Amino acid sequence: MPRFAVLIVAAGKGERAGTSLPKQYEALAGQPMLRRTVQAFAGHPVQVVIGPGQEALARAALAGLDLPAPVPGGATRQESVRLGLEALGQDAPDFVLIHDAARPLVSAKVIAAVIAALEGGAEGALPMVAAADTLRRRDAHGHFTLVSRENLYRAQTPQGFIYARILAAHRQHAATEVTDDVALAELAGMTVAMVEGEEKNIKVTRKEDFALAETLLGATGDVRTATGYDVHKFTAGDHIWLCGLKLPHSHGLEGHSDADVGLHAITDALLGCIGEGDIGMHFPPTDERWRGAASWKFLDHAASLVRAKGGVITHVDVTLICERPKVGPHRDAMKAKVAEILGLELSRVSVKATTTEGLGFTGRREGIAAQAIATVRL
Ligand code: CTP
Ligand code: MG
Repeated sequence: MPRFAVLIVAAGKGERAGTSLPKQYEALAGQPMLRRTVQAFAGHPVQVVIGPGQEALARAALAGLDLPAPVPGGATRQESVRLGLEALGQDAPDFVLIHDAARPLVSAKVIAAVIAALEGGAEGALPMVAAADTLRRRDAHGHFTLVSRENLYRAQTPQGFIYARILAAHRQHAATEVTDDVALAELAGMTVAMVEGEEKNIKVTRKEDFALAETLLGATGDVRTATGYDVHKFTAGDHIWLCGLKLPHSHGLEGHSDADVGLHAITDALLGCIGEGDIGMHFPPTDERWRGAASWKFLDHAASLVRAKGGVITHVDVTLICERPKVGPHRDAMKAKVAEILGLELSRVSVKATTTEGLGFTGRREGIAAQAIATVRL
């Protein structure tokens, strides 16, 4: 049972945007908006809800991402959310984050704030930003009267909830029309915590919002890169672990854990991006817990440390340096394995290999070296 699941509603027609495709399938800086929105939640299980007849558009927009098949939505956003929540019931999570496909700029920081509120005991969590403009309301006679903006806030998504409670609220109040899920949560008496939203987390609504979103996308925050390097020595044995794969080999690799040099180098690169020391610091070789440990656990741990800081892993690249085994035949499987551990799409993972032309310790087949580089957006 996953602790957190993400429901992304993309079943609307995008009438106000008036684009040729429904807005969530239109390209935003070269990628379909829905794809960007889904990728903002990398590392979490995501369920997408789509409209009738949008199957082919969704397939194209989400190609290559590791997602369950989209489920059909309804005539209103509220109905789409309810149908999506029902679909999650197959493998019900503890908490669900409900998000608009039309908000592709949601940051890891906002997602982390919603999750933190739920983990801290809130039944619901709502990201908001204070209204900055002076506001006026038009009355029946067309007059615009001043409304104080003091204490006025704008609600955003993702809105997070205890899954079972928000599902019950949606079922119970299906006939009451509301514009967001927190409104239903409150009808059902749930306590909702307010968390910081972000100005840039806009809902792409009108055609001109595409240009604004593209400008905001260009203004990414902090991009970090760091390297990792590791060596393990050959020893007697009949297999090695390399980039998460068990390969039969004439020798084994010596090490306290499973001695997977490839995953160790990537782990160090990720730790380097957030200034969190190295693998030996987090998993000391003197600690009996890590004897024979599977190295994907180290990599998974480094990735969760990055995410806990609000980081998004955008790319990892590793070069394996050895005469044997030949890496070529296993490269695709290694890429897939690393992508799976990190929750990344395949194009964000690269596995390369080289020999050293018989020179040095790798040339003498005394061991394998690996060097990696990782890129993280914070
Ligand atoms: N949505 C949905 N099902 C609906 C209507 C809306 O899943 N029946 C989704 C949209 O795809 C969008 C989000 O809810 O991601 C927020 O809705 P909105 O921005 O209003 O999108 P649209 O309804 O598609 O746009 P419009 O109202 O302009 O037609
Ligand atoms: Mg709408």
